[in-house]
Amino acid sequence: MIFYFSGTGNSEHVARFLAEKTDDCVISISECVKTMHYDFKLKKRERIGFVYPVYAWGLPYIVEQFLKSLSLEKYGKHYTYSVATCGAATGGADMQLAKLLSKRGLSLHATFAIKMVDNYTVVFNVKNEEKNAKINDSAEEQLKNVAFLVNNRSGGYYNKHRGLWPVSNVVHKGFNMSRKTSLFKVSQDCIGCGKCAKNCPSGAISMDYGKPIWVKSSCTMCFACLHRCPVNAINYGPTTKRNGQYYFEKAEKEKTAYIEDKNDIEEN
Ligand SMILES: Cc1cc2nc3c(=O)[nH]c(=O)nc-3n(C[C@H](O)[C@H](O)[C@H](O)COP(=O)(O)O)c2cc1C
Ligand code: SF4
Ligand code: SF4
Repeated sequence: MIFYFSGTGNSEHVARFLAEKTDDCVISISECVKTMHYDFKLKKRERIGFVYPVYAWGLPYIVEQFLKSLSLEKYGKHYTYSVATCGAATGGADMQLAKLLSKRGLSLHATFAIKMVDNYTVVFNVKNEEKNAKINDSAEEQLKNVAFLVNNRSGGYYNKHRGLWPVSNVVHKGFNMSRKTSLFKVSQDCIGCGKCAKNCPSGAISMDYGKPIWVKSSCTMCFACLHRCPVNAINYGPTTKRNGQYYFEKAEKEKTAYIEDKNDIEEN
């Protein structure tokens, strides 16, 4: 069972890649939160994976919330691992995860981190597609190794991208206080398609006379609304528009294929 959260497809791709290589299934944390599905029954010795993007050296708020409600019915000895996707450094995100899991009676046996394209376009420019492809190709190579270690139930802290983790708590707390939706602005280019509202995992966006409005004062800050807008009409401060949009397209194709396969199985 692989629980994942993803705003722009990186972590979703990682979760699906690992599911395929380790003969496992993926479970979307967004969907669980939307449907308030927190109880899961594990198979004997089942592996449990958590895949998530790093936000300000910590976990996305939605993942924290999910873990606080998660209830797993165990069966035998389970192997638990996590994979963080990040642009540069994870800080103490996996330690934060380990702490929350221990409160649910789970030990985290292995942690991994994979560098992928950094979707924080407040700072980073994502317009160079060649550069993006290079980063994600290298991630793919590292992922094969992660799949091998997970298949072998290898234990260890394999995350080599922690950076200045001792100050993570301060950085992450500061970020959590600043997750305000008031900085989101919509330009005249908006065509009223409603995709931003549909993609928001926090239910923070509503459509009002054909235009999105943020109905919650804070959100998980995944930037899915901004990156997946078909006309780049959503800004978060002065830099995001010129820094471009990013989405790991492979993730969308994999998701469609997965849903089609599932439907075929259910029909037969
Ligand atoms: C609000 C925000 C904060 C982020 N903070 C970090 C960070 O502290 N360190 C890092 O390496 N990457 C950071 N990133 C980049 C993402 O972790 C990275 O792009 C991730 O792979 C995105 O995953 P996703 O496509 O599954 O959403 C941040 C991104 C966002 C949107
Ligand atoms: S996704 Fe973009 S174009 Fe569509 S409603 Fe939202 S802001 Fe407007
Ligand atoms: S408002 Fe945008 S950034 Fe915030 S959670 Fe929703 S989709 Fe993500």
